[in-house]
Amino acid sequence: MERQYETIYEAIGGAPVLRKLVEAFYPKVQAHPLLGPLFPDNIMPVMEKQYMFLTQFFGGPSLYSDQYGHPMMRARHMPFPITPERAEAWLSCMSKALEEVGLEPQLRQFVLERLKGPAHHFVNTENSN
Ligand code: HEM
Repeated sequence: MERQYETIYEAIGGAPVLRKLVEAFYPKVQAHPLLGPLFPDNIMPVMEKQYMFLTQFFGGPSLYSDQYGHPMMRARHMPFPITPERAEAWLSCMSKALEEVGLEPQLRQFVLERLKGPAHHFVNTENSN
């Protein structure tokens, strides 16, 4: 019988899988022509923050808020021109990363659906400059 999980965090395999996920995700982001230019060369601090954020977003320990306070993610993205195309690009990098870490298709789709809302919510311009 299939085990039931309380949280996405548990269902995907917790901390080690989230680590692998962010490590698979950011090289794709950096290599993406629409996304790469927005990010600093030293991606490690961003990767760490994302690890902390996704941990709590998926129902694990509140690592991000414990360190940085209220996430206010839309506000934190305001300095960057986030177009609908960039939101789609972000989600496509995430989709590939989810596949790369070996999650089964159904779970992958579920996780991606949870991220679609925020990604499109962070869109703050039609203009990519
Ligand atoms: C919609 C497309 C997105 C773009 C183009 C984008 C881009 C960026 C950029 C440029 C940064 C700042 C990197 C730096 O520190 O210099 C950032 C930070 C961050 N992003 Fe995104 N992002 C997107 C969507 C998302 C989504 C959907 C999430 C999570 C649900 C997310 C979570 C984060 C987190 C946790 C940080 C670090 C915030 C901090 O500084 O504390 N982003 N993002």
